[in-house]
Amino acid sequence: MNVFINKNIPEAGIKLLQEKGINPTINPTENVLSREEFIKICQENDALLNVGTNNLDEDFFQQCPNLKGIALFSVGFDSVNIPSANSRKIPVGNTPDVLSRATSDVAFLLMQSVARKSFFNHKRILNDDWGSFNPLANLGQELYGKTLGIFGLGRIGFEMAQKCKAAFGMNIIYHNRSRKEDAEKELDAKFVDFETLLAESDVLSIHANYTAENNELFNKNTFAKMKSNSIFINTARGKFHNENHLFEALTNNIIWGAGLDVTNPEPMKSDNPLLSLPNCCILPHIGSATYEARNGMAVCAAQNIIAVFENKKMPYCVNE
Ligand code: DGY
Repeated sequence: MNVFINKNIPEAGIKLLQEKGINPTINPTENVLSREEFIKICQENDALLNVGTNNLDEDFFQQCPNLKGIALFSVGFDSVNIPSANSRKIPVGNTPDVLSRATSDVAFLLMQSVARKSFFNHKRILNDDWGSFNPLANLGQELYGKTLGIFGLGRIGFEMAQKCKAAFGMNIIYHNRSRKEDAEKELDAKFVDFETLLAESDVLSIHANYTAENNELFNKNTFAKMKSNSIFINTARGKFHNENHLFEALTNNIIWGAGLDVTNPEPMKSDNPLLSLPNCCILPHIGSATYEARNGMAVCAAQNIIAVFENKKMPYCVNE
């Protein structure tokens, strides 16, 4: 059996595969392969360890009938057409837990960066605009005792809430498909409907899985229902928000600020108008970019591949 890894991953994952006698074919270039090149190599392999956002849609599955398993190098699995995988009984695995800490750290970092306008203030120095001390200029807001609204209380949302509670004594409200009673107790969190989440959050942070149903859920109508002092944080997927509507909301003081680690499309172009706003902080999808998280992801993905080779259930399977 052969496995293709379309971008090099940390050594921990490669070693694990090799210990099991699996010698992967790794994309030798740093470049993203064209769709044709990618599909051609997948056709020659039994399993795929997929890094990045290749669209694994119905057409992909039709063109790669020999694939026996797919291990994603991500917790999100929105790039895969799961019904297409299911109909062919192809297991798809992800990398949960190992990146929850790192990703929630970035949500927390963005929240503070927006609250204190840190990216904008850094740019002032670069632009020779430090100026003299001005008691009325460049003021941020403090987060102590404010309300954090979590959209999607999974592992990452839970860790974000824990940090905000410990650091700033924030009140936690959340909206989720189902209630999480253990988490509610641990965080002293309140389950609310979506409208209440919009209306009561001082900081609203998205931590849900992206699905087509929540495409651009955050748009002019929903931003209009948020507090004018509120901060919008998205470290999940760029498709959760409508970028033009976010720009309008930020420039018309409908909401106070936004912090994004994800955009739509990615990469974002350097002339994107959001980048010029004083109340918007944007990072290039670095949520899981720590040595610890990426090593953990490599190990999870390798374990999922090994399960395919050993004809066992993937330990982190999303579709079985
Ligand atoms: C994830 O793991 O889903 C991250 O967003 C990287 O794609």
